[in-house]
Order: sequence, then C-alpha cells, then structure tokens
Amino acid sequence: MTHIPARQNLPPDIVNLADHELQARQHLDDNAWAYFSGGAADEITLRANRGAWDVLPLWPRVLRPLAGGHTRISLLGRTLLHPILLAPIAFQRLAHPDGELAMAYAAAALGAGVVLSTQASVALEAVAQAVLPDPGRGPLWFQLYLQHDRSFTQALVQRAEAAGYEALVLTVDAPSSGVRDRERRAGFRLPPGVGPVNLAGLQAPASAELRPGQSALFDGLLHHAPTWDDIAWLQSITRLPVLLKGVLHPADARQAVAVGAAGLIVSNHGGRTLDTAPATASALPRVVQAVGGALPVLVDGGIRRGTDVLKAMALGASAVLVGRPAIWGLANAGAAGVAHVLRLLCDELEIAMALTGCATLADASPALLDVDFTHGQGQ
Ligand code: FNR
Ligand code: LAC
Repeated sequence: MTHIPARQNLPPDIVNLADHELQARQHLDDNAWAYFSGGAADEITLRANRGAWDVLPLWPRVLRPLAGGHTRISLLGRTLLHPILLAPIAFQRLAHPDGELAMAYAAAALGAGVVLSTQASVALEAVAQAVLPDPGRGPLWFQLYLQHDRSFTQALVQRAEAAGYEALVLTVDAPSSGVRDRERRAGFRLPPGVGPVNLAGLQAPASAELRPGQSALFDGLLHHAPTWDDIAWLQSITRLPVLLKGVLHPADARQAVAVGAAGLIVSNHGGRTLDTAPATASALPRVVQAVGGALPVLVDGGIRRGTDVLKAMALGASAVLVGRPAIWGLANAGAAGVAHVLRLLCDELEIAMALTGCATLADASPALLDVDFTHGQGQ
C-alpha cells in the first residue's frame, strides 16, 4: 500500500493500544486532549465501558482444531476480513493535519470499515476517493446528524450517496451534547482551519426570543432533534440502508426493528453523552436478545484489546467499532499510526481466538463468557 508511509517514527515500545494512548498525550495539546479523551460529567460511563469488558472472563476451550481458522465475517451482504470498523469521530484534523484522509487510507489498507462523521474536518468526497479504489477495503459508511434544515440534510445525504457511501448511520444518542466538564475546564475551541467542512453553507437556526420560564434546550435546540418519525422520512429520501447508532434500551431496539432499520450500533457515544448510562458490554446482550437476529447489532465503547473484540462477538455482536484508539494512532504517526492500531487489534483478536479454541468467529458464543453448562454441551 504505497500511500502508507513507513512506520519508523513509531517508537518500538508501543506494543498495544494503551501505549498508543500514552504516546498520543505527547502529541496533542491540552485543548485537543480534552476533546478526544473526555467523557460526560463524572466520566462514570466512560470508565464503565472499559471495566465491563475487563470483568468478563473468557473461558478457554482446548484441543480444538484451529488450522485454517480466520477472522472473516459477513455484514450487510459483504464479506469482511475482520469485524473491526473505525467509529465516526469529528474533527480529526485536530489530531493530525491529514485527519480523516489518513484514517481512511489506513482503514482501507487493513480492510477495516470507515464511518465518516457528519462533523468531519475533510470533505466527504475526498475521503470516499481515498477509500473506494482499494479492492481490500472494508465498508464505507456516512454518519448522519440530522440538521435543523431538513433540505440541507437531504442534500448532504445525496452528496454521500453520490460519493459512494454504502450506508447511513444515524446517530440518535446526542439530541444535545453531554455535560462536558473536561472540555469546559480546558476552554475547548476549534483552532482556525479545523471545522465541519461538510456543513459549509448551513445557516444557523433562527433563534426565537425565549420568554421568561422557557428553556434554551426544550424551546430551542430540541425543536430540531430527530424523532422516530424522522426515520421514515430519512428512509424515503435515500436508497442506502439506515443504521441507528446509540441505542442501549432493548425497547428502542425493538422499535428500530419495527421501523425497518438496517442495523443497530449499541453505543453510549464513548461515554460522552449521558453519564451513568450503562456500559455497552452490559447493554449488548439485551439488545441482541431483543432483536432476535432481525438485524445486525454492532457495538462500540472501550474496545481496546483483541479479547474485547472476541467478547463482543461472543455476546452476539456482528462487528465492533473503535473510536479513540484510532485517534491516538493518528496523532502518533498519521496513517501509519492508525494502521498500527488496527494491526495490533487484528493480531490480538487472532491470538484470542486461538487461545479460546475458536477457529472462526461463528464459534464465539456466550458459552465463552459464562460457563452455564446448558450452553454448548457436547460442543
Ligand atoms: C465521538 N463519537 C461520535 N459519534 C458520532 O456518531 N458522531 C461524531 O461526530 C462523533 N464524534 C466523536 C468525537 C470524539 C472525540 C469521540 C471520542 C467520540 C462517538 C464515537 O463514534 C464512538 O461511539 C465512541 O468513540 C466509541 O468509544 P471509544 O472506542 O472511543 O471508547
Ligand atoms: C462529539 C460529537 C461531535 O462527541 O459527536 O464530540
């Protein structure tokens, strides 16, 4: 892959994603660090995401034949080399001048999917051009935030379709931003030259005068927040499959099936929206059970090890997304750093599979995590 620069500027003692995080702290200023690392409020959900993967024990099975095993999966009609996609993260040029372009090159080189944020700092067409020519690439999806101006939103969807994006990921867990204490303490602001370029030309909503007793949130911003009715509207203006990102409650998962969503991403926005929302590892099996195989269920939040990926698959995920670790790789060495992060995760996933007796990800069942001897008897 000629576009991936050599990795010589990554120190050799970076051997896992946590090392990438430590190293990235050296490359990011306080402003960017607060933005990328922070969670909402007391960061309880941010920590819980990690902790919930950690406390799930993997019960290894031995002496199973493993030769010829692989990490391939199928997702929305495509075969992927492995189940790892890059989560949508806004403003990646805060981490590296090449931003989303470097991310996309690295993902394509490693066969990982890319979900580009509505708030990307690079034109969505440029990212598609970087990824689409690579025959080994993973899926290319566009993450959508519905804008207050629905005709602008429609034009944005049409641009994404025309550029070659293969699915829309509607983020539903952020009708308002969370309580971002870390960002407020750091006085976070976007530096000149980094911004949501794909939203250029969008006019700010006309702000009605608030009467005494009215709320800037409920009587302002939330007039434009998406509701279930907007899913049908979105489906009516696009031929692309629409996945919902940010579903935790099993009842919402059932409603997503009812409205014809193409897939779900169990996510709490990396702990950045509602603090004390459940860890995604806790929500995942409930959502999987609620949808009963009607659609693919993906998950993100705190996935930092190959064992975490395997646990997610064992709980019924169809694939996983990683957020911040890709940013750390990007900050450390641009595309080569992101590629390194993905390589580490894929290698760790293979090792985890080998050591648990899983030749393929279809072998990863809840019995790997919970030795309820009614599961997998005789298997
Ligand atoms: C995000 N996330 C996010 N999600 C989304 O749908 N649109 C977006 O623009 C963003 N932007 C964003 C910025 C930053 C700095 C972070 C950390 C996260 C959420 C993201 O897609 C994903 O859900 C989480 O990052 C997953 O958790 P981990 O892997 O970061 O723990
Ligand atoms: C965030 C928004 C952009 O989490 O989704 O920062």
